Amino acid sequence: MIPEITTFNDYIKQWDEASRDPAGYFEKIARSFTWKKNWEKTLEFDLKEGHIAWFKGGFLNITENCLDRHLAERGGQPALIWEPNDPREKNCVLTYRQLWSQVCRMASGLKKLGVKKGDRVCIYLPMIPEAAVAMLACARLGAVHSVVFAGFSPTALADRIRDADCSVLITADGFSRGDKSVPLKRLADEALQVCPSVRHVVVVSRSQPYAIQSAREVGWTDLLERGEETFPAEPMEAEDPFFILYTSGSTGKPKGVLHTCGGYMVWAGFTLRNVFQTRPGEIFFCTADVGWVTGHTYGLYGPLLNGLTTVFFEGVPTWPHPGRLWEIVEKYGAQVLYTAPTAIRALEMLGSEIPDRYAMPSLRVLGSVGEPINTDAWLWYHRHVGKERCPIVDTWWQTETGGILISTLAGVTPSVPAWATLPLPGVQPVLLDEEGREVPNEAAHTQGYLCLKSPWPGMMRSVFGSHQRFVDTYLRRFPGYYFTGDGALRNAQGHYRIIGRVDDVVNVSGHRIGTGEVEDALNMHDLVTESAVVGMPHPVKGEALHAFVLCPPSQDVSQGLKKELQDLVAQKIGRFAVPEKIFIVPGLPKTRSGKIMRRILRKILAGERDLGDTTSLLDPAVVETIRQTVWANQ
Ligand code: WT7
Repeated sequence: MIPEITTFNDYIKQWDEASRDPAGYFEKIARSFTWKKNWEKTLEFDLKEGHIAWFKGGFLNITENCLDRHLAERGGQPALIWEPNDPREKNCVLTYRQLWSQVCRMASGLKKLGVKKGDRVCIYLPMIPEAAVAMLACARLGAVHSVVFAGFSPTALADRIRDADCSVLITADGFSRGDKSVPLKRLADEALQVCPSVRHVVVVSRSQPYAIQSAREVGWTDLLERGEETFPAEPMEAEDPFFILYTSGSTGKPKGVLHTCGGYMVWAGFTLRNVFQTRPGEIFFCTADVGWVTGHTYGLYGPLLNGLTTVFFEGVPTWPHPGRLWEIVEKYGAQVLYTAPTAIRALEMLGSEIPDRYAMPSLRVLGSVGEPINTDAWLWYHRHVGKERCPIVDTWWQTETGGILISTLAGVTPSVPAWATLPLPGVQPVLLDEEGREVPNEAAHTQGYLCLKSPWPGMMRSVFGSHQRFVDTYLRRFPGYYFTGDGALRNAQGHYRIIGRVDDVVNVSGHRIGTGEVEDALNMHDLVTESAVVGMPHPVKGEALHAFVLCPPSQDVSQGLKKELQDLVAQKIGRFAVPEKIFIVPGLPKTRSGKIMRRILRKILAGERDLGDTTSLLDPAVVETIRQTVWANQ
């Protein structure tokens, strides 16, 4: 549970070793975890077919590594500190022993409801301790959790429940974030109308005491009370499914990214302690919601695997006052703060004097995740939050990668503004050109498609329900490589700088949104013939969505339509996916083969006069009319 890499020399040696002999290297790393039975084969893979197996034949249960193994030494240490949205409400601290006990009871309660190893359980909860207990309880009995971010709409929730064929839903009556309240149970009920697979609904009373409404509902506390005091952890084969987490891609339908038990555990534990250089007992504050992968790996599993205390924050960084985040760092004496550039930029805009009022002496490392961090935000974070004494780790990874792949190791490897820097041991990034040739290492400054040429333990194994989609999305474009969908730069020192997505995925406030998904939602409106959604740089959100919507010429398109379209996206996906601007246009820039040229739309939005080569357009005149619409509406 202490870092394997503590000097630059260790890093160089271990990166080399892991590249030459990944099986040998990760065998050693994996031994630092508790296994019920040793594995027979460390690594087996065929990247073209999408077959990846780590620690085959080995048995484990991640909850024994997160909880049981700590009980003797740190049973009384806080495992999780929950800070409520409203600071006037009492917080909650769960020691390792208390968390273990709740997890046992809940696992046992779920088992009594008929949940078995391999069954899918959907978790639709706000950031409350019950979310952690629910996830760990599933893990303890071997059920596959699919956490759906509580900001998703009923339609999005229903799509995910159906895709994973979940038999149980765990949700709450309602909650507040900042000054907004969310009637979560009502949203869940709406989704459940089209989800016949759900046999039981477990309801946490978060806002008010909740009265059960039907035979399939059960209250969270009732279920806990029904559960046994101890619950033996289910032996899981290393390659048994662990969890599903939906993420957006370039097509409309979200993908259920599937992670497995052994590799994910090893990667979550290994990356956390080495990137953040943590020691057991430290306070780790990751602001991500458990509904996203960062919340899974660095909000829950990673910290517990390493004997840390994780801070679970239900609220938002700026409510009820702009110093809320800094107040929490000070209140709990966090050593690590891990957040997104969007939050950093939003806080920066409120003025440096706010963090300047907080000394935050406990802070040791600052982390950034989810989107490229610009130099200004990096420097501000360094000066005003880290007081120029904390290294910043800009961590690049994805839902699909399970954990961090490219990052500074705090205080061990160099930290450079706006650069994610160096790959972790076991990670072999390459930059490929259009034809799939590796851009040579010698060149001073190279750019290309960021791909990985060998598997690492935390890599996704499949898309739930469609292995072909896994192969098609990630492994087919450049055979023999995993394609990340990102473009990157590399300098002479081998440092990487992530430029951003090269596919139709937009990163809004660190939330990954497929433009296709938003287009599908817009196209559902009766008056919409077709639409094109693009991402544009935004000073706080990183990127913002802009939609171009085509309506039949005969229709009288009123302002009311824009509002209806916004509501439609909120209803189909969630508020966070609503486009910033919607332009009703008489035509879209299409090639003769019918492909929408989004590049042209982006240039028009950026106010560029020179649109590049437009000769392949079916109707070049359409560009001028779109330009006028944009100007008239900006
Ligand atoms: C995409 C993955 C990483 C967990 C949270 C988001 C972008 C992520 C960075 C970074 C530049 C980054 C990439 C990536 N991204 N981290 N440090 N610098 N870009 O996970 O929702 O799966 O999104 O986020 O474009 O592909 P996700």
